[in-house]
This record gives sequence, structure tokens and C-alpha cells, in this order.
Amino acid sequence: MSSTDQTIVLITGANGGIGFSLVTQLLENAKYLVLLGSRSAEKGEAAVKQLQGKGLPGKVELVQIDVSDETSILKAKDVVEEKYGRIDALVNNAAITGEAPASSSLATRMTSAFLTNATGPAIIVETFAPLLAKSAQMGKTPRILNVSKQTGAWGQAY
Ligand SMILES: NC(=O)c1ccc[n+]([C@@H]2O[C@H](COP(=O)([O-])OP(=O)(O)OC[C@H]3O[C@@H](n4cnc5c(N)ncnc54)[C@H](OP(=O)(O)O)[C@@H]3O)[C@@H](O)[C@H]2O)c1
Repeated sequence: MSSTDQTIVLITGANGGIGFSLVTQLLENAKYLVLLGSRSAEKGEAAVKQLQGKGLPGKVELVQIDVSDETSILKAKDVVEEKYGRIDALVNNAAITGEAPASSSLATRMTSAFLTNATGPAIIVETFAPLLAKSAQMGKTPRILNVSKQTGAWGQAY
């Protein structure tokens, strides 16, 4: 399949949980090239290996990206741009709940959660927008999906 016919999807936090399940489902269709985002190279490589072992028709490759680290986001964008030139869909899936120790201050816990769950995804959207625009230039309909849950709303928590 040519690169033009492929649908290239970047999913953050896809080495486990819901992100990994989404990758697995997409790989059942040969048109998908999934860029499996993982902040840990080790976990990401293990996830890619596991998926490749399933012999699914789609293609999967690892992109190391830590959504709480702007330098990591910019580096990932450069890698994706150089290798693939565009993305057709971005799934902001990575998130944390209570990763900072419960004993830390409310300010620390909120800052940490906000960085990963809100600021990071916003930076990713801004950074990857030119690669999504390239998809549109090819006549495709690029998409951004933000995965969330009700308990992630500050209004629900406080
Ligand atoms: N589980 C639910 O009941 C539920 C319900 C509704 C919506 N959701 C939403 O679904 C999404 C995924 O949830 P999940 O249940 O699959 O969570 P999960 O099992 O905890 O997986 C979270 C993923 O995000 C990654 N991650 C965390 N911080 C990161 C960072 N700074 N940079 C890059 N990756 C990072 C984790 O990587 P590591 O392995 O390195 O930690 C992991 O791969 C979240 O947005 C969540 O709000 C979940």
C-alpha cells in the first residue's frame, strides 16, 4: 500500500491500557499505519513487538513521546515529519490520575496532572498541526481525538 492510501495515526500513551487496545483494533485494517506513542522506549518497544507478533495486517511503529515534556514533543514531531511527512489523525490518549505522591501538596498534584492531561495535549495539537494540515492538503480529512473522562473535569473534582 502506498503512503498516500495509508491512514497514519499517532496515539499517545499507547504502550498500555486503552491506547494499546485502540492500536490493536486499528491494526486489524491494512490501511492503518499506527505510530504507537510511548514515553518509555522500553515499554514502547515491548508493545510494538507484541503487536507485530500478532501478524495483523496494519503496520505499527514506535514514536517516543512524553506528553509532559515539550522537548520530547518537538523531537517526536521532527521524527514523524522526517519519516512520514504527515499524520492523518492524532489521538491524545496519554493521561495520569494521581501519579504524584498523595502526600505531596495539592499544588504539586494539580500542576503535575494539568501538565500531562491538559497542557501537554494542547502543545501536541499545536506542534503536530502542520503535519495534520499536510493530510488535508492531500484531500484527506484529518482528525484530532481527545480521550477524557468525566472524573478528569476539574468541576467534578472540586
Ligand atoms: N480506564 C478508564 O476507566 C477510563 C475511562 C474513560 C476514559 N479514560 C481515558 O482513557 C485514557 C487512557 O486511560 P487508561 O485507562 O488506558 O490509562 P492507563 O492504563 O493508566 O494508561 C495511560 C497511558 O498513558 C501513558 N502516559 C502517562 N503519562 C504519560 C506521559 N507524560 N507521556 C506519555 N505517556 C504517558 C502511560 O504510560 P506509562 O506506561 O509509561 O505510565 C500509559 O501508556 C485516559 O485519557 C483516560 O482519562 C479511561
